Amino acid sequence: MAIMPITVYGDKILWTKAKPIFKVDDEIIQLIQNMFATMRNANGIGLAANQVGIDKQMFIIDLREVEDYEKFKPVVMINPEIVLQSEEKIVMEEGCLSLPNLRAEVERSEIIKVKYLDTDENEREIEADDLFARVILHEYDHLIGKMIPDRVTSQLRKKLEKELIQIRNREVEVSYPITTK
Ligand code: NI
Repeated sequence: MAIMPITVYGDKILWTKAKPIFKVDDEIIQLIQNMFATMRNANGIGLAANQVGIDKQMFIIDLREVEDYEKFKPVVMINPEIVLQSEEKIVMEEGCLSLPNLRAEVERSEIIKVKYLDTDENEREIEADDLFARVILHEYDHLIGKMIPDRVTSQLRKKLEKELIQIRNREVEVSYPITTK
């Protein structure tokens, strides 16, 4: 297992729509293992493939470090599709490993349904709510080239501008490996 450098705001791959995975081969399994190692090293709860520089539709989530989620089963979602999003929304503060130190309030649906392939290439559809739904939507956003700044009000977006420039210029302290500019 290897810890990979995490891409940060400004890296073009984070603004690119990821490509579907046609076969869960050894290379993909290796990538998944490396992504889990990378995410845990950075104390993250979710990580999309393009955050380690791989242009593929896949993300991982592990909420076990979060209070009340100790029994959560880490999940890998391949070629995910959001099939339903509730009208009811919740605003919550979010962070992102590709936006070190930045926190922002983001409004997202409370309940969602997502369809995806698991690592055995079985098609699955699950309902998720609360934090799990939020993390799925956040990671799914990565796969369509979107991040937190694309999901906040224009007022808040303006306020974040200075921090975003600092991140892009690597003028932030980060406790895990990130890509070089
Ligand atoms: Ni993120």
